[in-house]
Amino acid sequence: MSFDRRKFIKRLIIAAAAIEGFFLIKGGVSKVSHIEKKKELFNAGNVNTFHSNKTYPFVTGQFFLRRFKDGGFLAMSVKCTHLGCIVDSNLKTGGYNCPCHRSQFNQFGEVLAAPATRPLDYFPITIENGELLIDTSAPVKRKSFDKSQLTYA
Ligand code: FES
Repeated sequence: MSFDRRKFIKRLIIAAAAIEGFFLIKGGVSKVSHIEKKKELFNAGNVNTFHSNKTYPFVTGQFFLRRFKDGGFLAMSVKCTHLGCIVDSNLKTGGYNCPCHRSQFNQFGEVLAAPATRPLDYFPITIENGELLIDTSAPVKRKSFDKSQLTYA
């Protein structure tokens, strides 16, 4: 009788370990899939609705869409690169000002005044059927602006 009890307890422990192992593996897999960010494409609208040399704020997408004189588009994050406050667009200069510690950025998102030390992040843009799709899941950090960051229709 005691032999059966030992055998039963041993099997119970093995079963519990197997169940725990299953949930650990399952939890690990679900954590990995959580880490893989899903692309979040924000449809900003048709290319032809945006005038050159103008900035358009997208509050829900948390970016500023700027169309430059040459027609190129740049979608910049509204988050200041100093400590993450939301920057305001400066209508006079076409740049951006941070209300928290007064960093200033030019129209390309480059730093004009510290304490921020790097430009505003930007989001990749693709154009499909004339629609501007902004990938807000993938902010790109940069050291400076260059034309390769612009997207053209
Ligand atoms: S958070 Fe923008 S300057 Fe500090």
